[in-house]
Amino acid sequence: MEVSNRYFGYLYNKLNFLVRFVYCRVPFLNRILFWKLYTSDFRALDTEFEEMKEMLSRRGFDFKNKVCLEIGPGNSYINAYNLLMHGAKKVIMVDKFPRYIRTSKQRDYFKRELRYIKRKQGKNELFFWNGEEFDKRYIQFIPKELTQIELQQEVDFVLSISVFEHIKDVAGNIRKLSRVVKPGGIMFHKIDMRDHYNFNKPFLFYTYSEETWNSVLTKEGVSYTNRLRYGDFKELFEASGFRILDQKLCKFPLNAQKIHSQIARKSDLDVGIAAIVLQK
Ligand SMILES: C[S@@+](CC[C@H](N)C(=O)[O-])C[C@H]1O[C@@H](n2cnc3c(N)ncnc32)[C@H](O)[C@@H]1O
Repeated sequence: MEVSNRYFGYLYNKLNFLVRFVYCRVPFLNRILFWKLYTSDFRALDTEFEEMKEMLSRRGFDFKNKVCLEIGPGNSYINAYNLLMHGAKKVIMVDKFPRYIRTSKQRDYFKRELRYIKRKQGKNELFFWNGEEFDKRYIQFIPKELTQIELQQEVDFVLSISVFEHIKDVAGNIRKLSRVVKPGGIMFHKIDMRDHYNFNKPFLFYTYSEETWNSVLTKEGVSYTNRLRYGDFKELFEASGFRILDQKLCKFPLNAQKIHSQIARKSDLDVGIAAIVLQK
């Protein structure tokens, strides 16, 4: 969320402990106060796909005949569509908290997304969609966490956008990825490590200790962010046999942000967003 109004923003930031607490610990109030739940923006994701493609093509990587895995697609299939339209053999999607529910709003979103990709590709028909359902040879959606499942095949490429900061068992998921990705396989992860409370104050959550953060201010499946920093992610990926081929780091000023001593010990405190290309 981004709060730009100066006065409301001031108050909203001042009350952040209370608002976070209500948001993740009082489900009833949560539904009344925060009725507009997060929904993926397929146009923005499409732009991100093009940026990712560009970054990967500089490394000589394309999607032709690749078995791809997307972690945490949210309610958008746009990455799967784009991957298939660029020659991918199959796309598997896993999401621990699937948002792909059959409400009329969701059906409308789904139709608009399909129309969008058809227009983008200049096609009337899509080989993976028969008008009723997806062809399972091309698209498979698994409503679970990667650590809880066994895939039928190894994958050549893994993608995630704004997901790793929401994963609780990051180490376990990365270890699982190291078993699932083929030797030489490529991964692209965009990790938004900013405080999602108000993007105008990207490091406001540095104020809190690990205990306070995890026990009362964040909750898996509702508002969870792990607050790992870029250095933490890098270490975990490298420990599981991935090496970084390329990265784009977006830094933000820390200004006069109060930082808890547990957080102050970490490195890369000013890195807010990282787009990383890795190879096994
Ligand atoms: C902020 S949303 C991003 C969705 C989409 N990638 C986008 O950019 O719009 C984060 C997604 O990660 C999923 N997620 C959270 N923890 C996960 C986990 N452990 N394994 C797989 N997906 C997870 C959530 O259910 C959610 O769909």
